[in-house]
Amino acid sequence: MPITFEVFEKDIAGRLGRLKAGDRTLRTPALLPVINPHLQPVTPEEMQALGVEGLITNAYIFSRSREFREKALSQGLHEVLGFDGLIMTDSGSFQLSVYGEVEISNLETLEFQQAIGSDIFVPLDIPTPPDADRPRAEKELAITMARLREAKEVLGPDAPLAGPVQGGSYPDLREKAGREVGDLGFAFCPIGAVVPLMESYRYQELVGVVMAAKGGIPVSSCVHLFGAGHPAMFAFAVAMGCDIFDSAAYALYAKEGRYLTPSGSAKVQELHELPCPCQVCRTHSAGDLKTSPERDRLLALHNLHVSLAEMARIRQAIQDGVLWELVDERCRSHPLLLKGYRALLRHAGTLERSDRVSKRRFFYRGTESSSRTEVIRYQALLDRLALPPRVLVAMDRTEGTGFDLVLPFRPPFGPYPQELQETFPIGQSEIPDWDEDMVTSGCRGIRRLIETHPRCTVAISCPPEWRCVVEREVPGAEVIP
Ligand code: GUN
Ligand code: ZN
Repeated sequence: MPITFEVFEKDIAGRLGRLKAGDRTLRTPALLPVINPHLQPVTPEEMQALGVEGLITNAYIFSRSREFREKALSQGLHEVLGFDGLIMTDSGSFQLSVYGEVEISNLETLEFQQAIGSDIFVPLDIPTPPDADRPRAEKELAITMARLREAKEVLGPDAPLAGPVQGGSYPDLREKAGREVGDLGFAFCPIGAVVPLMESYRYQELVGVVMAAKGGIPVSSCVHLFGAGHPAMFAFAVAMGCDIFDSAAYALYAKEGRYLTPSGSAKVQELHELPCPCQVCRTHSAGDLKTSPERDRLLALHNLHVSLAEMARIRQAIQDGVLWELVDERCRSHPLLLKGYRALLRHAGTLERSDRVSKRRFFYRGTESSSRTEVIRYQALLDRLALPPRVLVAMDRTEGTGFDLVLPFRPPFGPYPQELQETFPIGQSEIPDWDEDMVTSGCRGIRRLIETHPRCTVAISCPPEWRCVVEREVPGAEVIP
């Protein structure tokens, strides 16, 4: 049976959807916890009880394991793991990128994944590291694409195959890879080889890679960000259109005594309190947790809770149309995430095309808010306004004698016709006292109105304290006191 993906709601480029593989389904955005059968602090059964709908595990580990290989082949993966939800298997490509080679071929891993009853198979793609030069990225991409074609040819068009998108740090290669993976008919597209970027907080480069890949991948495909596991970056990645994450972070951080929060992590040794509503944190003191013989397991459980709760928060934010607010909040937790967020806002023109029409609210949260998709879309709408000959943009009044039309002004959007006063985004925006940044953004709206209505004369009335900004931002405009 083919993999299918349905989208119910959108916000920015994020989607609320449903992924189906065989008869198993997953609500997205979703987190697939990574399972290592040899060392598992939280069992798949426990995960299912926590509401986990899907897992990812490594087929290469199973195929090499004396303990698990035959069991998986005879009983199937779901039985061996004791998990009834969706199980995706990775091919061993990650081992390839870490150890340089694996003793398995593309078809061998695919046949093994099929034989153990995996719900989604991953071919043996080559994760090209971000600092690889172009000839290497091209060569490895060609091999990856050949293996994806081979997978489709041998397993058939309806096999539940993932089509990893590689291409290193070269946006044109990523975009081409995304398009070709789509052309081959893959409805499930992981973006690969981004772990080194995330490990060193290179979020700005991550934006370049993901936006380029997304530019090629069909909008109807489900997108997985391979190896993304820190909850602080989930909302940011969802905003770019990533639907699936897989996390070993909950277990890896636990092993190092680290306590995840939605905005970062802390060393458990340094905690005096456990500021989280999960079962572990409400039934242990920080002191208990530090000294418990079960510390790693308890930390893993807490970390998993935090990650799953963040995913639920993101799904609710998409439902409500407040994903930008959540992204803004999360991205302020680390300077490099903020740098990534600013890089993302430079793609707002692209993101605007997938953003939804109406949202619950627009909260102005500082400089970055002026670059949001809603502002771009609103200002593009100004081109289409039918205007009479003499128009007043009134920043400080509601009437203007001698004018045919008075347009009030709402930063960071700009001038607006009274009829739009109750509609999104004008009516649903909350802004604090005006600041220079939002007024500058609003003036962009006035400038656009003037440029696209050459037959009208547009005057601006403004309070004295903003006159200087208005004259600078709308040069040549008639500013009346
Ligand atoms: N896990 C993390 N990154 C990758 C990748 O690029 N490919 C595969 N197959 N697995 C991964
Ligand atoms: Zn907790």
